[in-house]
Amino acid sequence: MGPGTLSDLLATLPSFSHPDLLVSSATFDDAGVFRLTPEIALVQTVDFFTPMVDDPYLFGQIAAANALSDVYAMGGKPLTAMNIAAFPVGSLDLGILRDILAGGADKILEAGALLVGGHTVEDKEPKYGLAVTGTVHPDRVVKNGGARPGDRLILTKPLGVGIITTALKGELIREDQAFSAYQSMAALNDKAAEIMQEVGVNAATDITGFGFLGHLSEMCAASKAGVEVFVKEVPLLEGVAHLAAIGAVPGGAKRNARHLEPRLKWALPVDEVMRDILCDPQTSGGLLLAVGPDRQQELARRLNEAGVSWWLVGHVTDDEPGAIKLL
Ligand code: CO
Ligand code: CO
Repeated sequence: MGPGTLSDLLATLPSFSHPDLLVSSATFDDAGVFRLTPEIALVQTVDFFTPMVDDPYLFGQIAAANALSDVYAMGGKPLTAMNIAAFPVGSLDLGILRDILAGGADKILEAGALLVGGHTVEDKEPKYGLAVTGTVHPDRVVKNGGARPGDRLILTKPLGVGIITTALKGELIREDQAFSAYQSMAALNDKAAEIMQEVGVNAATDITGFGFLGHLSEMCAASKAGVEVFVKEVPLLEGVAHLAAIGAVPGGAKRNARHLEPRLKWALPVDEVMRDILCDPQTSGGLLLAVGPDRQQELARRLNEAGVSWWLVGHVTDDEPGAIKLL
């Protein structure tokens, strides 16, 4: 019999350790980090997926922003990137692949990184993403496990892109109603990352496939802390609450919710629609930061100055590690 789950399978691989391996895959962080010198550590990550939007250029932008985000989430700066693509050469117009790669290249440029190569394989369904290498000072790596009781939780993008793209596929909304979701997914987390690095935060991660609660739960498990979420303060893209209520919920949100259920404690009666929204898989979501109360104002001021949106969505508690209380 094969391994039951992907994490069971990964656990069968040899574990790697080295004095300079600062962050490995063991902690569910966003990227691996390896110290080269006392001043420089490499940050490495890879991410690719199938299109969630029809426009190939936009898809390229989103896939690249999403891959770059894992370097930002570690407090790093992206340096070089390589394309990873799969494409049905022969049955789809190559112009589509060109537009996907152009969207990705433009995001790499915007990030101030360099495209240094890539690889394309033939496959029935198009897929695209990047392997990204960045750098960070070895003493300034921002992990997901550093949150402490009393820390404030800050989120930098509204939720709901999975619900919006599901609604679009089901023709519940028109394409122009998905515009802010598109913009949000294509936006880099570069400014928020730079500011969090300068101000100093205790933990960070980006919100992607496990949804807001999934990534929050990884953060609080790794930090051995509990959290309280101010459900009404969590930002949503326009229309998301209504669309989720009428059933435009991706299967991934339900799977995430089932998986998290044992760790959720509702102060109010369980709101299934809100639970689905909080578990909605995000593509290229925002950063989730845990900042000490002494630095919260400075962080807020700097984010405001830079025009980065942010919301205070909860705080870290000394409750049982990994427990998420929804207020
Ligand atoms: Co990530
Ligand atoms: Co990722």
